[in-house]
Amino acid sequence: MRRLRVNIPEREYDILIGAELLRSAGALMREYTPAGRAFVVTDSNVAPLYARILCESLRAADCEASLSIVPPGEGSKSEAVLSGLYAQMLEAHITRGDVIVALGGGVVGDLAGYAAATLLRGIPFIQIPTTLLAQADSSVGGKVAINHPRGKNLIGAFHQPKLVLTDTDTLKTLPPREFACGMAEVIKHGAIADAGLFALLHENEFALTEIVEKNCTIKRHIVEQDELDTGGRMVLNFGHTFGHAIEAQGGFSRYNHGEAVAIGMVAAAGLGEKLGVTEPGTTDQLREVLTLHGLPALPDEAPEWPLMLSDKKRDGDTIRLVLLKTIGEAVLYPVAVNKLLEWLP
Ligand code: NAD
Ligand code: GLY
Repeated sequence: MRRLRVNIPEREYDILIGAELLRSAGALMREYTPAGRAFVVTDSNVAPLYARILCESLRAADCEASLSIVPPGEGSKSEAVLSGLYAQMLEAHITRGDVIVALGGGVVGDLAGYAAATLLRGIPFIQIPTTLLAQADSSVGGKVAINHPRGKNLIGAFHQPKLVLTDTDTLKTLPPREFACGMAEVIKHGAIADAGLFALLHENEFALTEIVEKNCTIKRHIVEQDELDTGGRMVLNFGHTFGHAIEAQGGFSRYNHGEAVAIGMVAAAGLGEKLGVTEPGTTDQLREVLTLHGLPALPDEAPEWPLMLSDKKRDGDTIRLVLLKTIGEAVLYPVAVNKLLEWLP
């Protein structure tokens, strides 16, 4: 088992990464919390696979476990589902001495994490991520949110977990398209911060524990420098602003998030090369590695780039793009919105 420490003053926590960790979750959790009760949130795809193992392990560690199962998918990051969760938690008389456990992908992590951030002004929570995206990205860093009809993740908070417990064996049941979606964020981490990781991704054979650990190390480092996303953390949005336009054009259903980010990264690298910011050849390198991992590099139809302007990263008439200098190094590049639209095809 690997153990990484996230050093945010007063909110430090560990990320434990390894195979077969789920059945020891209760015992491992005991190092981090004395809670006598855990309120586990999961979705209906993950529940039949892993909820029993987790709840048994919690009970074996003298932690009473109750389970709430939400529907799978982005639709659960809604006020209605959140309100249902609050009701169940209050009915169970949850207290700030208990712990909320998110067992699932980024949807469950964001939803349960937001419930934990807000109910009773904050309840400790633990992330047990079961998708590659959640293991390599969303479970680390404390961003929690639900969606609003006007946009994704518009209602949220920063609420760091007490522990991230990552059992890489859970990825064995992940559908290939979801795995590829997680690979988009892994490729993103390599592209913005670690040329060595990026090079490793050119091979199709690697140890998942190593990949997850490398990604958590990158994200941990970025979050430690800028927990509240006011500067350096924004590089994690590489590909996301362009990807937002692709997702919006497809009605948030044609492409999944990782596919849209993949297309967005290629577009951002292309623009960077055109502006002389990005080393020539970078776009080709990105395209090659994305294709190798089953991700698209181009959209099916001409992109409607102005849709990116509804992205929440816009700040008045300026949008802060993330461009690459080269593979492994990203820069923030603020541009006027009208200038940006002139540059795009
Ligand atoms: P997800 O949670 O919807 O999971 C994808 C699908 O895989 C779901 O159908 C789920 O039921 C299923 N699943 C999960 N684990 C499984 C397993 N082990 N075996 C079989 N099926 C499994 O999606 P995701 O891609 O994990 O997360 C996407 C969400 O993450 C988005 O809402 C996005 O906004 C959010 N996100 C948050 C952050 C952050 O920093 N908080 C970062 C990136 C993305
Ligand atoms: N996923 C972007 C962030 O955590 O900042």
